Parts: sequence; structure tokens; C-alpha cells
Amino acid sequence: RFERLWLVAALAMIVLFIGTVTYGAVGAGYGMVDDTGGQVDPTDATASENFREPGVYNGSEPGHYDVYIEAKQFLFVPGTSDPVRVPANSTVTFHVTSTDVVHGFEVVGTNINTMAVPGQVATITVEFDDPGQYGLVCNEYCGSGHHTMEGSLEVV
Ligand code: CUA
Repeated sequence: RFERLWLVAALAMIVLFIGTVTYGAVGAGYGMVDDTGGQVDPTDATASENFREPGVYNGSEPGHYDVYIEAKQFLFVPGTSDPVRVPANSTVTFHVTSTDVVHGFEVVGTNINTMAVPGQVATITVEFDDPGQYGLVCNEYCGSGHHTMEGSLEVV
């Protein structure tokens, strides 16, 4: 007689858990507060003033490059449709931001691994000595396409 009641109670618990998790992932909102204390529009790529148009730029000295990468659901720009291409024997500073939710930026097989946060720019400087191909992956859960969010980096 009570089995049915327990079954209903168990189902209710499961639904509640799923609801809680979904709310945590989707409903909590990702608004970030910038340095001035104001709210940053997470869809605004220029939310951080020191972020340029995405792409590869010559650095301040020969052999140095600045790479600006935008992470968004569910791609890296550049990186996903076109590989990020930098020369071998170079020093590369990555500037990584997000235009929507928190993403990860990991260059597989290296120690380059950071979060990409809306309204903030993560900066990492590394040296690439030899030509090679690297994968880029997002390692922060960012939505339904998280597992498809990847790209490539070519050192040529
Ligand atoms: Cu972007 Cu996970």
C-alpha cells in the first residue's frame, strides 16, 4: 500500500533535484560587475576596454604576438572556424574573454588553461619553440553545446 506513496515521493525528489540543477545552470544569471562597480552587458564584446577585435596581432617587439580570443556559445573566435596561427619561435600573449557565459580556454597538451569570463580578460604569455598543432577546448560547462566547443591552434 505504501509502496506507491514512496514511489511518488522518490519521483518528486528527483524532479526537485533536476529543477535545482537546471536553475543553477540557467537561471542564476551571469551578469558581471566591472572595475567601476557597474554592470557589464555580457553580450558586449568590448565590455573590457583593453580587449581588441579578436585575432592575431604583432606584439610590442619582434617575435612577440598578441592573440585576442573571444569565447562564446559554443566557439572560439578565432580558433573554431579558422585556426589560431602563430609563428614558431615566438612569444605569444593570449587575451581571452567571453561574450556570454563563463567558458574555459585550454590549449591541449600545454599548461595554457584559464577561464573566459564575461567582462574580464584573462592574459597568459607562453613561448612556442617548435611548429605544431594543438587543440583548443572549453573546460567550463557552458550549456548544451559545451562538449562541442573546440578549436585549433597552429604553430607554423
Ligand atoms: Cu564553453 Cu564549455
